[in-house]
Amino acid sequence: MKRPLAVSVVGLLLAAAGIAAAQQDLAAYVSGDRRSGFTFLAPETRALQTDEFRNPGMLWVEEGERLWSVAPPGGQSCAGCHKDAAVSMKGVAASYPAYDEEQKHVINLEQQINQCRGRQKQPALAWESRELLALTAYVGRQSLGMPVAVKIDGPAAQSFARGKEEYEMRRGQLDLSCAACHESQVGAKLRAEVISQGQMNGFPIYRQLWQTMGSSHRMIAWCNEAVRAETYPAGSQEYVDLELYAKWRGRGLPVETPAVRR
Ligand code: HEC
Ligand code: HEC
Repeated sequence: MKRPLAVSVVGLLLAAAGIAAAQQDLAAYVSGDRRSGFTFLAPETRALQTDEFRNPGMLWVEEGERLWSVAPPGGQSCAGCHKDAAVSMKGVAASYPAYDEEQKHVINLEQQINQCRGRQKQPALAWESRELLALTAYVGRQSLGMPVAVKIDGPAAQSFARGKEEYEMRRGQLDLSCAACHESQVGAKLRAEVISQGQMNGFPIYRQLWQTMGSSHRMIAWCNEAVRAETYPAGSQEYVDLELYAKWRGRGLPVETPAVRR
């Protein structure tokens, strides 16, 4: 009887160490009272995200890396102007959406990339197109682990204030605001989903429900539909403002691009 007892004690100790290690791992995905959607996932899904060989979103990152160096006819490649993305794009995604001097309003990362498509003398890439998701994921990946820090003052202040208003506005047949779920119902279940804080630190995300990658604006539209509200088009200023506010709510959380979500 002695041996099994010793084995089970060791087993318990190992299990305790495993739990402690898992909790320590999760601590990196928490900042103050902010918790990444990562901390709401099942351990298998978390493991899928953190293993870069298994993370399905890495296919888009790799495609983005390839596109980075492709010079379109009559234009320069991204690399032609920005050189090594690991240097020039480091920290960029952590600070978007951001006020843009040319457009005189706040824009998000996809819109910034499309602004540069213009510099390449190329038409804008469509929302949710493979290319735009790939370039956004590749640029985002260069900020992996860096804390989210968007500017909300100065010329971004108006956009931030509108985003906060949008976030708190009740909408749809269910008459629910974003806050009604992502602040008041955190941890509750909505059909098969556990409601998280609705953080924005992992976009674009690979969503298992969609079986593909999706932008932050696709996610907001999905949430609008969940309460049977009207959606705005991707790239609308309403969504950019909401994105800025939601990103600020997650200040200090690490960039996780490409996050894997249910
Ligand atoms: C002809 C030169 C040129 C090319 C080609 C170019 N860019 Fe840019 N890019 C710029 C300039 C200039 C800026 C800064 C002004 C601005 O914000 O638009 C910039 C800014 C950016 C930023 C924001 C950086 C920051 O610190 O806020 C991102 C992201 C970006 N480019 C991505 C890309 C991607 C992706 C491509 C390829 C699809 C690309 N760029 C192609 C010139 C270029
Ligand atoms: C009826 C409840 C509900 C409402 C209202 C709602 N959402 Fe969500 N939201 C969800 C659910 C469920 C998910 C998927 C599970 C999760 O990550 O919370 C989700 C996911 C998200 C995510 C992805 C989080 C991550 O970790 O990747 C973001 C961002 C988000 N919502 C933003 C919003 C915004 C902005 C609004 C308001 C326009 C909103 N949500 C309104 C239920 C809601």
